[in-house]
This record gives sequence, C-alpha cells and structure tokens, in this order.
Amino acid sequence: MSSLKKTSILIMATTVAAALSVSVAAAMGDKPSASASGMSQVGPTPAMAGTFAKAPEAAIPPLAPLGEPPIPPDNPMSKAKIELGKLLFFDPRLGGDASVSCATCHDPEQGWSWAEDISRGYPGTVHWRSNQSIINTAYYSKLFWAGSVPSLEAQAPSAAKGGVAGNGENDLMEARLRLIPEYVKRFNEAFGEPWPTINNAWKALAAFERTLVQRDTPLDKYLLGDSSALTEQQVSGKALFEGKARCILCHNGALATNENYYNIGVPRAGRWLEDGLAQITFRFEYYAKGATEELYRTVKDDVGLYFRNKNKWDKGKFRVPSLRYIGYTEPYMRQGQFYTLEEVIDFYDRGGFDEEGNTTSYPKTKTPLITKLNLSDEEKEDLLAFLEAFTGEKIMMAKPRLPGYKPLFTLAELEAAQAAK
Ligand code: HEC
Ligand code: HEC
Repeated sequence: MSSLKKTSILIMATTVAAALSVSVAAAMGDKPSASASGMSQVGPTPAMAGTFAKAPEAAIPPLAPLGEPPIPPDNPMSKAKIELGKLLFFDPRLGGDASVSCATCHDPEQGWSWAEDISRGYPGTVHWRSNQSIINTAYYSKLFWAGSVPSLEAQAPSAAKGGVAGNGENDLMEARLRLIPEYVKRFNEAFGEPWPTINNAWKALAAFERTLVQRDTPLDKYLLGDSSALTEQQVSGKALFEGKARCILCHNGALATNENYYNIGVPRAGRWLEDGLAQITFRFEYYAKGATEELYRTVKDDVGLYFRNKNKWDKGKFRVPSLRYIGYTEPYMRQGQFYTLEEVIDFYDRGGFDEEGNTTSYPKTKTPLITKLNLSDEEKEDLLAFLEAFTGEKIMMAKPRLPGYKPLFTLAELEAAQAAK
C-alpha cells in the first residue's frame, strides 16, 4: 500500500471540485452505439432517443405481476437450508471481527438496507455506496450498483470478505462454524456433508435471500385484475410512468428494471469531498479495483460500470434498480444522493439535474433517454402516488437466537484419548 500512501496527499489537493458544465450536445457525443448506450438487450434502440412517442410499444416489456423467483439448479431450496441461511444472515461471526452481520447493514427495520446516504462500513470505516435492500434480489441477474456479480451465491462472499463490509477470512469464518455444534448439525441436515464449509454457507445465505420476496403490492393486485387496488390518482400516475414521464423505458417488466446500464445524470456524492473517512474508502476502492494511476489521481466520482470493462463510454453507468419496496429504502441512488421520492421525481423532471443544477461528472456518457419532462405539480403528485404502489407491507423478522460455540474436545477428553493410544 506504500504507493497509495504516497499518492494520497497529492490527491487531497486535486479533489477540490471543478465545476461541472453540461450541454445536451455533449451528452449525445460519446460513442452512440447500442452497447455504449447500455441498450443492447431489452429496451429501446438509440434511434428512439427523444422520439419516445413514436416508439413501438412492443419493444418495451410492460409492468407485470412478480412471479416465483428463479431457483438455480445447483442450489435447490429446502427448509433446513433456508433456516440455516436465516441464522447465518443474522450471525456476525461471518465477518472479520464477529461484530457485523449481513443484517447489521441490511436491517429489516430499515427496509433490509441502511438508512444513510452511504452505508455504514466495517467497524472503523464507512462504505462507499448506498446500501441496497435484500428484498426481491432473488430476481436480479446481476447484483450491486454496477452489476458486478451474477448470483446471490457469488455475492455473499464478496459481502462477507470485502474490506469495507464484512472483512472476513474464509478459513477463520469456516473454523468458527465448525466450532458451533448447532451449525455442524444444521449444515449436515442441509447439505449432507460432515462439516460446515464456507461455500455451503454462501449457498444457505442465498437460499434464505430467495425467500425475501414481495409479490402482493397494490400494483401486483391491480395487474392481476383487482382494479380497486390502485386509487384513481395512482392510475393517472401509472399512465404518466408509461408515457410522458418515460420511466417505463428502463423501469419495465415484473421487476421494474431492464437491468441495463445507464448514466442518468446523478451528480457525485458531496460527502466524498467533505468527509475524510468516506474519501479514504473511495480511494481504497479505486486502488483495489485496479484503477490506472491517472484515474486514481484525478477521479472525483464513481465510474460505475467502467470499473469492470474500462470502456470510457461506460463511465458513470449503473444497473437500473428495481422500484419494488422503495417505500422503505430511502435514500435513493448509488450514493443516496436523494432522500425522498419527491426529489427523485424533480431530478428526472429537470432532465437529470439536481436542484442546484448539478448533473453527472461524465456528461459525455449521459443517456439521451433522460430529457426534461415538463411535469405539472399535479402530474408529479400522481407519479409519486403511483411509485408508492410498488411497495406493500413492511417485511419484518425478529433476530433469531444464535447458537453458541463449544470446544471440539475438553482437556479431559484429550487426555483420555492420549491415554487410550
Ligand atoms: C458493512 C455493510 C454491509 C454488510 C456487512 C453487508 N452488506 Fe450487502 N450491501 C452493502 C452495500 C453498501 C451494498 C451495495 C454495494 C455496491 O453496489 O457496491 C450491498 C449490496 C448487497 C446486495 C446486492 C443487492 C442488489 O440490489 O444488487 C446483496 C444481495 C447483499 N448486499 C447481501 C449481503 C449479504 C448476504 C451480506 C452478509 C454476508 C451482506 N450483504 C453484508 C452493505 C453491506
Ligand atoms: C434511462 C433509464 C432510466 C429512466 C428512463 C428512468 N430511470 Fe430511474 N434509474 C435508472 C438508473 C440507472 C438508476 C440508478 C442511477 C444511479 O444511482 O446513478 C435509477 C434510479 C431510480 C430510483 C432510485 C432507486 C433506488 O433504489 O435507489 C428511482 C426511485 C427511480 N429511478 C425512479 C424513476 C422514475 C420515477 C422515472 C421516470 C420519471 C425513472 N426512474 C426513469 C434508470 C432510469
């Protein structure tokens, strides 16, 4: 880390913000190919940008009721596995200093997420992104804000081991599990193997997460034929969502996301410039993700998808998040830039600008799909009322009682074993 130390002093000086200037022309400028606009899969083609009214409806999957979550064939569900996964989710021993569990950061009371702009981190750190809810993650085909892992099984270790999250070591976490007789028994029931293994812990966690779904929101009921499930105002809001407000371009289908990547203009997080601890994590993440020295020295924002493929046209792009359960998961966006859904709607209404006129640090990659909406106050209220229909009852769960350690053998047993030799 010595090069990190050397460079960080220089960096502090350069992080003082340069004002961001954006023109619509610039927003359209960079690599307007299908992949550059993050529209290579489902969804509108670049040619449709700005001509949504003429877009063929069929290209965009309609909002739909949420079905059963997909279950991967190599990790079938069972009652024993789900119950084990629940214990592990609440157990801080799956982490470095055994003080932070998944549920610490993904708190059921806080929408199975964390109610600050940037998530709390491993003790002594803050995270660098806003915490996402666990509810309905079973349906995503890619996880995290930049979609960097493909499954819940692959996500769990990066959470338990990541430097500013769980910060755990595989060997140590596995040893802990093996010294908890209740876990030895439960892992055996769930997986038919004599000892707990850390890989099976990730599988059990994933199985438990697949039970955290919400399929009975007012919107689901409405789409299944109960026309009284939405108010008149929400029905007007739905029409705006699917029309004038253009939300459906990206937030579509049953999960209300096409899971593509876009830069929609969210400005950078002010906290990185003001809060030393947050800035340390931000720099650490750049370093850990193999950023070039030039980027490391000059960057002032989250480059998102760019981390993964280093395509300059992917700077500032993020996976479209679901809108389900958002009634409990404020603040919103990748660093919690907005605290309320009213602020989010105003941001979109201005064409991707906050109230001070700030927009993305990467104006060249900003998607042309985000344009000024000219919504009236009444239309904004209708849209807000409709957004509330994506959320049902709060899903609550009491923290389970966690099983205790027991040494594998006592001194007397050890002596007896030696005497028997
Ligand atoms: C220190 C806080 C912290 C801890 C501990 C933590 N998480 Fe997270 N979790 C986050 C943050 C922050 C994100 C978003 C990070 C990003 O996108 O870079 C996240 C994202 C996720 C996601 C992705 C959701 C989505 O919409 O893509 C899942 C799933 C998840 N965490 C599960 C877990 C599990 C399982 C554990 C325990 C093994 C865990 N987390 C532990 C903070 C935490
Ligand atoms: C061009 C695609 C696109 C369109 C159109 C779009 N969104 Fe989004 N939306 C995104 C992306 C990408 C993010 C995450 C951006 C980030 O954090 O930088 C997001 C984030 C959100 C969030 C925050 C969710 C969370 O969990 O933090 C809300 C709420 C939201 N959008 C609502 C809307 C509404 C309402 C509309 C219509 C007015 C809309 N979106 C139109 C792509 C889009």
